[in-house]
Amino acid sequence: MELVFATNNTHKLTEVGAVLGPGYRLVTPRDCGVTEEIPETQPTIEGNALQKARYLYERTGRDCFADDTGLEVEALGGAPGVHSARYATDGHDFAANNRLLLKNLEGQANRRARFRTVIALIVRGEEHLFEGVVEGRIVEAPRGTEGFGYDPLFLPDGHDKTFAEMDAGEKNFVSHRGRAVRRLAEYLHSTNK
Ligand code: IMP
Repeated sequence: MELVFATNNTHKLTEVGAVLGPGYRLVTPRDCGVTEEIPETQPTIEGNALQKARYLYERTGRDCFADDTGLEVEALGGAPGVHSARYATDGHDFAANNRLLLKNLEGQANRRARFRTVIALIVRGEEHLFEGVVEGRIVEAPRGTEGFGYDPLFLPDGHDKTFAEMDAGEKNFVSHRGRAVRRLAEYLHSTNK
């Protein structure tokens, strides 16, 4: 089965393709002639995932899915949440985002946080949502060099390594995105789609 995945990020394509398995061929928006940036202007993670999937479906008419992720920090009222990519600046400046997060948590005893991914799937016009959550805490200083984004600051519960100290396989096993993609895979496999 062919599915359009709303990303041109090859790292994500490989990660998600590995979980879905050999029965699925992932196609990028660019492969289907969608070269513009797909809008994500909704106030929630679910809203953004759906907005991206609907945009692709309307333009290509093909089965597709989109994901959206946020880091929700308890002491910051759920921030940066849906604004995770652009927390410190308008660009995707991971180092600046991490510095701002540490600054906003200075002197804060409660460092509970979670990553949440929502995947919106549209198959033959029908919409489905899948969620993946991982609970953990924000460490006091960055640790590790793997991964991306807030990985050096996020210590998942039950582990002594931050996401940036894990290899891709270890991270996938516990991560928000890994969990959401496994739910998507279970659904697709169970319906033989
Ligand atoms: P996106 O919705 O997958 O583009 O994620 C939005 C933002 O959340 C990214 O720009 C990162 O800052 C952060 N993020 C998403 N997934 C991860 C992850 O697995 N590790 C660390 N940060 C992440």
